[in-house]
Order: sequence, then C-alpha cells, then structure tokens
Amino acid sequence: MRLLIPGGAGYIGSHMVKYVQELGHEAVVLDDFSTGHEWAINDCEILRVNLLDQDTLAQLLKGRSFDGVIHFAAKSLVGESVQKPDLYYRNNVVGTLNLVNEMITNDIHNLVFSSTAAIFGNPVTEKIAEDHPKNPINPYGQSKLMAENMLRDICAVHDINATCFRYFNAAGADRSGSLGEAHDPETHLIPNILKSTIPGGSVLKVFGTDYETHDGTCVRDYVHVTDLAEAHFLALEYMKDNSGFSAFNLGNGSGFSVLDVIRSCERAVKKMIPFDPAMRRVGDPPVLVADSSAAICKISWEPKFGSLDAITQSAWRWHEHSGG
Ligand SMILES: NC(=O)c1ccc[n+]([C@@H]2O[C@H](COP(=O)([O-])OP(=O)(O)OC[C@H]3O[C@@H](n4cnc5c(N)ncnc54)[C@H](O)[C@@H]3O)[C@@H](O)[C@H]2O)c1
Repeated sequence: MRLLIPGGAGYIGSHMVKYVQELGHEAVVLDDFSTGHEWAINDCEILRVNLLDQDTLAQLLKGRSFDGVIHFAAKSLVGESVQKPDLYYRNNVVGTLNLVNEMITNDIHNLVFSSTAAIFGNPVTEKIAEDHPKNPINPYGQSKLMAENMLRDICAVHDINATCFRYFNAAGADRSGSLGEAHDPETHLIPNILKSTIPGGSVLKVFGTDYETHDGTCVRDYVHVTDLAEAHFLALEYMKDNSGFSAFNLGNGSGFSVLDVIRSCERAVKKMIPFDPAMRRVGDPPVLVADSSAAICKISWEPKFGSLDAITQSAWRWHEHSGG
C-alpha cells in the first residue's frame, strides 16, 4: 500500500510511518514541521507544506494516488487553544477540510483521522464509550469535534470513508529506543516525569493531590503509541467492508493515577523521583478512562502494551537515548 501521512513528522505520526514501513508499505509524509522533526522520519518522500496553503497542497497532490490517508496534522495544546482559538479552528478544521477536498479531487477514498478524548469534556460515566455525551470544554476539543462532524457529513455524500480515533493519553516510544516523544513545550506527564530525573531537570509538579481518587491524584488512561499505530493500520482494513463514517475510542481501559505513573517511572529509571504537590489545574477532571471495547471488537485491535511499566520503560529507553 502507499499511504499519505499528514503530520507524519510528529510524535504519533512518526511512529505510524515506522510501523507501516516495517510492514513493507510505502509512507509519504506531508508536514509543515511546525511541531514535527525531520530526524523522526527516514526513507520516505516528504511533502513539505502547510495544510492551509491550498494552492501548494493542490499542486503537490495533483494526480497522486494513495490507498489511504492517515491524518495526524493538528495543533494540540489545550492551553494554547484557549489563548488562540482562531488558530486552532483554522489549523484543525480548515486544514482537515482542505485535505479532504484534495482527496475528493484526486479520487482518494480512505481517511483515518486523529481525534481526541477532549471531545467528550467532563465525564459523566466511569468509562467513556463512543455514546458518551460530547461537550468539549476547550477550543482544541471543540475543533476536533467540528472536524469529526464535518467528516461525517462529507462521508454521507462523497465517496469517502473516514474512521476517527479518539485517543486518550498517547504514551511510550518505539521499541528501538531511537524514536519517541519530543514536544516543545512538553505538556505530557510521562516525558515530564522522566525529564525531571535528568541532571538540571526541573522538579516535577503534581497538580492536585485532593481529588476523589484512590490516592488523591488525577487518573488517566495511557495507550502506547505503537498500539495506536496498529489501530490506524487496522482501520484501513475495516473500511474495506465498512464504508462511510465511523468513530472509536482508543485507550487501555485502565486508569492510573499520577502517583502510579511516578512509581512506574521510578521502576524504569531505578531511582526515587521527588515531586512538589501543586494546586489543581482548572479543567482537569479527576478521572478519564476509555471504554475501547468497540475498537477491540470491530477493528480487531489488540493493544500489546497493557502494562504501565512496559509503557514507561519504552519511554525511558528513548529519553536515555536522546539525552532528555
Ligand atoms: N499525543 C497525544 O496524547 C494525543 C492525544 C489525543 C489526540 N492526539 C492527536 O493526535 C495527533 C498527533 O499528535 P502528536 O502528539 O503526534 O502531535 P505532534 O505535534 O507531535 O504532531 C503533529 C504534526 O502535525 C504537523 N502539523 C500541524 N499542523 C499542520 C499543518 N497545518 N500542516 C501540515 N502539518 C501540520 C506538525 O508539524 C507535526 O509534525 C494530533 O492530531 C493530536 O490532536 C494526540
């Protein structure tokens, strides 16, 4: 297969590129490198373009055929989305629309779209399944929900199939240790815990220690980045027999508190990790855990990294390799 991977130079996208290459397929990366890295992708054609640059996008994709498009390109910092909502709606909604327009023009039929648990807002059930109410509480989540709704409407009238995946917390790194998470700024818990252990790293802050959870800290669902890549690949198979629009939640189905994650990182780095308790952050729900049974059943997804220790160990291999 030949696959177009917008956002393929980013954290999850670069693991996707490696995953499909290892299966012997061709990946073509489309990226503006606004948050992605050239070092994260190897042995593939690169289309260097911003999805908002419609003319260049049209020129680069004209007459090209792909078996599928796996679209990761987005801005995804919640805080920044509150400060710059226009940037988020333009990049994540208009960018996706421009991409889909080119798919229609060039007879490309299958899209896998990175959505997020942030479309659900504050949870009203213990685990979040696909039918959970969708009430995003920030422009980032809202932009992804708008993109999902737009894709649903487009699939209804065009020969396009789309599978949306709402990931919970993507985590971990490729087993080689040579590819992993490198956001700037880094807002994710596991890399920030690991970075705090490196000489000169700032002391870790734990935001909120008085939540109604088993140890007072927030509980989240961590899903390994290679398991996510596998789900995206399986979605291409799924769409062969299931046309139109679909959406699935992707997580491990187990919740781990911030302190559980710190303990797991301590086992990975083999030393104690000090932290400072801090005030709760506005908009952090106490618990967010996925119900991924639909993805497991319908796309035959079998996450391999069920254990938190396997996830933190893979992340630590990458942090050691990359020096932070
Ligand atoms: N990391 C997570 O835990 C998580 C959780 C839920 C959803 N997601 C979604 O998964 C996707 C990938 O996340 P990530 O953590 O790998 O992010 P990332 O920032 O590492 O990767 C995004 C990539 O898209 C590119 N990009 C952004 N806007 C672009 C544009 N307009 N044109 C061309 N390229 C553009 C960036 O340069 C980057 O390479 C995003 O859509 C994100 O919203 C991530």
